Amino acid sequence: MKKFLIAPSILSADFFRLGQEIQSVLDAGADMIHFDVMDGFYVPNLTFGPLVLHALRKNNITATIDVHLMANPSDKLIMDFIYSGADYITLHVDSTNHLDQKISLIKDNGCKAGIAFNPATSIFCLDYIIEKIDLILLMSVNPGLGGQKFINSILKKIVLVNKIIKKFNKRILLQIDGGINLKNIQDIALAGADTFVIGSSIFNSCNYVNIISEFRKKLNLI
Ligand code: DX5
Ligand code: ZN
Repeated sequence: MKKFLIAPSILSADFFRLGQEIQSVLDAGADMIHFDVMDGFYVPNLTFGPLVLHALRKNNITATIDVHLMANPSDKLIMDFIYSGADYITLHVDSTNHLDQKISLIKDNGCKAGIAFNPATSIFCLDYIIEKIDLILLMSVNPGLGGQKFINSILKKIVLVNKIIKKFNKRILLQIDGGINLKNIQDIALAGADTFVIGSSIFNSCNYVNIISEFRKKLNLI
């Protein structure tokens, strides 16, 4: 497994050419695809569902896809994403009263599980669920939109969570999501993150190969 993973968030892609956009960033060196699902209730925006993921898989997008569920994680929605080919499903800890049951549902059906914390959400529950999870997503913007500014106070949260992860001898991705750019990615990596969700900084650039290699160069200096 690579030390640092770059996960373009397709929320900022050109939805008219979604398949080609995903293929282009993968050809440009992206390690996985971040699939932002918004239901219009947990966050005000509405994006896409399992049918879009299924279409990507049907058209030979075989890369790792992490589904970021900014939604009410009903058992049906979770199962539909698993059947459609999600590699990871990440739930917001405050989006359900039954986090342990939902994480077990994801794991019991052969999918990797992640939990997401909004910028001001405490990481207190980590101790009681960390054994079951494969990914921790720390939001560095308030969920619902791409193109927002990175919230710097998250850096100390990354240091804290990285220390907790280090105590376990299994690979748990520490994924940071929101406002990542060429100026701040090194600080985020130095704080302990290993997986970087990048939306507008990649999809707003006119050359995906250049921008991803610029991010890679920054990370290779760590
Ligand atoms: C926001 C999403 C993020 C967002 C990141 O709710 O979860 O994944 O698309 O986009 P940028 O990198 O533009 O902040
Ligand atoms: Zn996201």
